[in-house]
Amino acid sequence: MNTAKLVLNDREHELPVMVGSEGETAIDVTRLRSESMIITLDPGFANTGACRSEITFIDGERGILRYRGYSIEELARAAQFTEVCYLLLYGALPNREQLDDFRERLTYHTLIHEDMKKFFEGYPRSAHPMAILSSMVSALSTYYPVANAEEDPDLNIIRLLAKAKTIAAFAYKKSIGHPFSYPINALSYTANFLHMMFSVTTEPYKVPQVLDDALNLLLVVHADHEQNCSTSTVRLVGSSDANLFSAVAAGICALWGPLHGGANQNVIEMLKMIRSDGGDYRKYVAMAKDSESGFRLMGFGHRVYKNFDPRAKLLKEAADRVLRELNIDDPLLEVAKNLEEVALQDDFFLERKLYPNVDFYSGILYRAMGIPTNMFTVMFALGRLPGWLAHWKEMRQDPDRRIGRPRQLYVGEPQRSFVALADR
Ligand code: CMC
Repeated sequence: MNTAKLVLNDREHELPVMVGSEGETAIDVTRLRSESMIITLDPGFANTGACRSEITFIDGERGILRYRGYSIEELARAAQFTEVCYLLLYGALPNREQLDDFRERLTYHTLIHEDMKKFFEGYPRSAHPMAILSSMVSALSTYYPVANAEEDPDLNIIRLLAKAKTIAAFAYKKSIGHPFSYPINALSYTANFLHMMFSVTTEPYKVPQVLDDALNLLLVVHADHEQNCSTSTVRLVGSSDANLFSAVAAGICALWGPLHGGANQNVIEMLKMIRSDGGDYRKYVAMAKDSESGFRLMGFGHRVYKNFDPRAKLLKEAADRVLRELNIDDPLLEVAKNLEEVALQDDFFLERKLYPNVDFYSGILYRAMGIPTNMFTVMFALGRLPGWLAHWKEMRQDPDRRIGRPRQLYVGEPQRSFVALADR
């Protein structure tokens, strides 16, 4: 076995070195503290592997993203979202029979318990749909406490995958004061969601194929991204043996932040602001470069991608295609492209390797579908759900699993004596 040597205060510590299937090297520090009282410090876990995983491979320097070995470009071109869900969860592409069975199960579990509809009545109309989604997912644990693990270990995984889109669509209907549209079993996963979003009792929504395809693409490119903030949250919460719904609800909350999935809502708000401010995108590029301004170009930069984000590339092409096919002239697409062009020629962005990320063009597609801006991060959550579920499953099946519990470097006061209030 390869080892690395760490020398500290003239003492040598030998650390095992592990190599991943794509040649990535990791120094195993698991026993460093028990053997030497030394810990490693890595704020933001920017250079810390928290687990071994077989699900997704990313090479940020070369712009590579693969699910279970399949490139995102190939999957985006040809795969159905439900196939990708199966692939992420079970590690291999399904054959026809397996896919039909999987889809049937997803369809069968699409409805939420009728009593849960009452929860929607309690939220204010202005409630953010991410808050509704996370609390409703958490509430699923009250209706489906434990799946019968021996008969069907994945039952709650299937339930969550099937019901999340119903909850999301119902949250939207609630926000516009419309009655809920129930799922239709004959529709595909994506068409069913669009139907629940946009059908009204007087007029069923006919899902245009181009939008069905665009939604499929969006979900596929969001489906997993290894140990990002929300997935790590799902793993961490799940590592305490908390139930699946709680772990995923926590992941949804983590995703909501503007530095993570919440950025897709912020991108469109930023593009609208630039446009209404006269369209001077150079001014906003200058602001983003000024650390005093507190302004960042939303949808730009990534912890892992340092060359390009392959998902952004796919979505930019799709945005062009969909808008052209639907004959939509969205002025925000123009603002986005101008912003990208200026930023990509600017030394500030080049030196820091800041490129458009997945959130930069996704909102343009959601807008073309008629999805309101405050639902964008919910769309991200629907896409990321199979990834969270696959990681939760992998984590639970890992024989080396331990509760997630990082260390810290304490930099506070040394021990001191308590002083009674009267003497302070
Ligand atoms: N606009 C302007 N400057 C930026 C940006 C940006 N969007 N992103 C990073 N920088 C600068 C940052 O100020 C820092 O500069 P300096 O070295 O001079 O202090 C440098 O680039 C490195 O930034 P960082 O914050 O240390 O990088 P990070 O890896 O910790 O953060 C990020 C990654 C995605 C949080 C960050 O790039 C960001 O805030 N981007 C905007 C929000 C966004 O689009 N988030 C979606 C991420 S992709 C989808 C997802 O995973 O959810």
